[in-house]
Amino acid sequence: MKYWSFSEGFGLENLIRISGELPTPGPRDVLLEMRAASLNYRDLVVMRGQHGKLVQPPLVPVSDGVGIVIDVGSQVSGPAIGDRASPAFYQHWQGGPPPTDLDVGRLGGPLNGVLATHCVFPASSVVAVPPHLSDEEAATLPCAGVTAWSALSEPSPVRPGETVLILGSGGVALMALSLARASGARTIVTTSSAAKSEKLLDLGADLVIDRSIDENWARTVRKATDEVGCDRVLELGGAATLSQSIKAVRTGGTIILIGNVTGNNAELYLPLVLTRRLTLHSVTCGSRAAFEALNRALEQHDIRPVISKVVPFQSAPAAFAALETHQDIGNICISSFQDGDA
Ligand SMILES: NC(=O)c1ccc[n+]([C@@H]2O[C@H](COP(=O)([O-])OP(=O)(O)OC[C@H]3O[C@@H](n4cnc5c(N)ncnc54)[C@H](OP(=O)(O)O)[C@@H]3O)[C@@H](O)[C@H]2O)c1
Repeated sequence: MKYWSFSEGFGLENLIRISGELPTPGPRDVLLEMRAASLNYRDLVVMRGQHGKLVQPPLVPVSDGVGIVIDVGSQVSGPAIGDRASPAFYQHWQGGPPPTDLDVGRLGGPLNGVLATHCVFPASSVVAVPPHLSDEEAATLPCAGVTAWSALSEPSPVRPGETVLILGSGGVALMALSLARASGARTIVTTSSAAKSEKLLDLGADLVIDRSIDENWARTVRKATDEVGCDRVLELGGAATLSQSIKAVRTGGTIILIGNVTGNNAELYLPLVLTRRLTLHSVTCGSRAAFEALNRALEQHDIRPVISKVVPFQSAPAAFAALETHQDIGNICISSFQDGDA
């Protein structure tokens, strides 16, 4: 087998392809022959060595992937050999409230991720993926897909007719756009260019705000909602966007805290929160049960993730480089894993 590892340290220069022995599944494990992986913003943070003390080299990166079961342990009753499955982002969160040691069970740091031709996982930590998806599309689900699902399901599910504001057009945002539309919500998306705006409209967004020409996008959201504000904001921006998100949401509305692409230290004008009965709810991906619920919705509504670029396994570092300069809409995927085992 072959795998990519940040072996000596982080940084693209330390991402090395290594040959190893084919792993053997334990009694409760399955062995996956990997078919595709998908990169998230988080993988950049890991590559830069900025994901905290728990995430250290040597590390096989990337959380999101899909493979075919080619061997199962003696005590495994499912999945079966030949099934297509993805490992859950949190390997130890089956359902219900998160375990208190949530951080230790994340794939792609601190646990080894999926950038390997073959991977062993506990059978209880892999999930069958929807048959209508290609391998690349299915590979986007464990972190990006499940996070979008949780953001629209927690603390209570979005309802038809509600207005959902989604910040940006990254992997989480695009899946959230599809899921929000399927749930009957009105969608408003902010983005950074005219080209992206057009693509987002093609994908079905009801209103797109180009923040490169409309800095005061919260005002525009309020205007578009008869000065009431949206019901829910998917806050993917962080430091530079939180204040406007608070202004854009209605009294009694919900801000789902998900990401921090613009930085970690946000300033919060408390009266705007305290006097308006807002809910600030943080989401951190989701459980295996959430993953299964997402898959049912994707099948029911024939939803397909958006893929912008596919890079072969042998050239995996190029996918990380592409993520750093990403100008397009859609997930960057890695495929042809088994060609990489030559
Ligand atoms: N809490 C969780 O469980 C969880 C799970 C997954 C991801 N995340 C976080 O969510 C964020 C997005 O992750 P991702 O993987 O979807 O990212 P991604 O695919 O790399 O996309 C990032 C997007 O951020 C947008 N962006 C950049 N600057 C922005 C700004 N000033 N305001 C608003 N949007 C801006 C860009 O969209 P435009 O050019 O269209 O604006 C860009 O496409 C990251 O912070 C990530 O760490 C959290």
